[in-house]
Order: sequence, then C-alpha cells, then structure tokens
Amino acid sequence: MIPSFKVVVTKFGSSFRKRKGMLGTLKSCAEEIEDIWFDWKFGIRTLVTASDRTSPPKSFGIPYAPTKVKRLKRILGELCVSHTQFTFLDIGSGKGRALLVASEFPFRRIIGVEILPELHFAAEKNIRSYRSATQKCRGIELVCCDATDYRMPAEDTVLFLSNPFESPIVSRVLAHMRESLQNHPRQFYLVYHNPVCHDLIVQTDLFEVVFVSKLYAVYKNKMLTQAPEEPRQGRSAYVCVTETNAILPRADLTPGLRSR
Ligand SMILES: C[S@@+](CC[C@H](N)C(=O)[O-])C[C@H]1O[C@@H](n2cnc3c(N)ncnc32)[C@H](O)[C@@H]1O
Repeated sequence: MIPSFKVVVTKFGSSFRKRKGMLGTLKSCAEEIEDIWFDWKFGIRTLVTASDRTSPPKSFGIPYAPTKVKRLKRILGELCVSHTQFTFLDIGSGKGRALLVASEFPFRRIIGVEILPELHFAAEKNIRSYRSATQKCRGIELVCCDATDYRMPAEDTVLFLSNPFESPIVSRVLAHMRESLQNHPRQFYLVYHNPVCHDLIVQTDLFEVVFVSKLYAVYKNKMLTQAPEEPRQGRSAYVCVTETNAILPRADLTPGLRSR
C-alpha cells in the first residue's frame, strides 16, 4: 500500500503545481484513491509504474496512462445505447483498465488492441484475475498489434480512444474506419477521451458530434451506404442515411447521451 500512498502524495503535489486549487486537488486525489481501490478490490494492477513511463510506444504513440475509473463509468453510463447490441473496442488498451470497466456494462463483447507486448500481457493477467460479481460481459479479447494494422470487426461498435496516439496515426485509423464503414454500414459510436484530435475527426465528415467537452467527446457515424447507381461527376459515391434506432427514445436527452 506504500507505493499507492506515494502516488496520492505525488498527485497532491502536482495538482497544486497545476494550480487546480484545494477543491480541484481534493477531487484529483479522490479519483486517484478510487483507481487504487479498483485495483485492490478486483485483484488487478492497472496503475502506471515507472517502467511504463520509460517505454514509449512506436512513433506518435502516447505512453500508457489509464483512464480514471469513475470518469469512464460515467461516460459509459451516459451513453444512450442498448449495450447488448454493441461491441466495445478500446484501441490502445494498455493494461486493460477500460476493458474491465466496460465489462461492468452488458456489451455484446469487448476487444482491446495494444501495441506494446508488456502492456498486452499485463492486460491478459488482469483479465484473468478480475473477479466481480457484477461483471456483465465476460467475452474479452486482446490483440497485440499496431492500431494501423488492425481491422475492425463488422459489428455495431463503441470505439473508445483515450488519446492513444497523435494525429498521423489518428488519420490512418480514420482512413481504415471510413473503408470499413463504407464496406459494412453499421452503427458506430466513437468515444474520444482527451479529444486532442477533435478537429481531425470532424473534418472527415464521417461522424456527427453527439457531445463534446475538454474531457471527452462522443461521435456517431453518419450511415454510409453504397449508392445504387454509378456516381455522376462531382457527386459522392456514397449516400448518407440518418440512422437512430440504437438510441433509446427519450425526447429530453441529447441523442446518444443520457441526462446527467
Ligand atoms: C493513454 S493510454 C490509454 C490506456 C487505456 N485505453 C485506458 O484508457 O486505460 C494509450 C495506450 O495506447 C497505446 N498505443 C500507442 N500507440 C499505439 C498504436 N499505434 N497501436 C496500438 N496501441 C497504441 C499505448 O501503448 C498506451 O497503452
């Protein structure tokens, strides 16, 4: 428990340096304690260690930094979709914390893609060790590869990106996503935590923005289906169909998000 105590003390100091104020600092420490508790309660290890910080992934990759448990629970709880219909896909899944938080929701299945073998193996171990009476999805698969080589399954998907890489890789993943959505039109939500490449995503015209804040953004795909006839010059080869049937019919909500 001593290293965990050190984590909280370090957090306290860095929060103060970032001028978050007393309330902000206490909030950060509470989140940190909740993350330590999450690991302890479920017998897993998802916290960042010194060696995680010194083993950065390939070029343009962001080193491992797990998403706060409380924040992800809130985001997934507010996502207004029928979870059972969707696959949860975390690209840049690290030690699997987001996968395990997602497994408390009744997703159809869960997939994690991670480039670094040491993190991939840590995630495997965590998934094996995780014991929760409230776990709703036990079908968790892990793939160890570069995001740019990964081909997404043709299923209704909630893709989670916790700022795993910089814009050159985001662009390449978006290009694969376009191809995949054109070949297999389906419902596709993108949950982007720490959305530093928000503009890039909007520019693709693949998605409509459901919600955006500094902390995270939610996008829903515009359904692309192949046009029945040959495109005329200057017209898009694809037509856009609005598709909303995964969103639960609640008039008081922003589409795609539950009320807070
Ligand atoms: C910010 S961490 C997010 C961890 C996890 N998604 C979570 O929320 O707890 C980013 C992760 O992306 C991984 N990553 C970076 N570049 C990658 C790439 N090209 N392909 C797959 N994973 C990558 C890193 O190794 C790291 O584990």
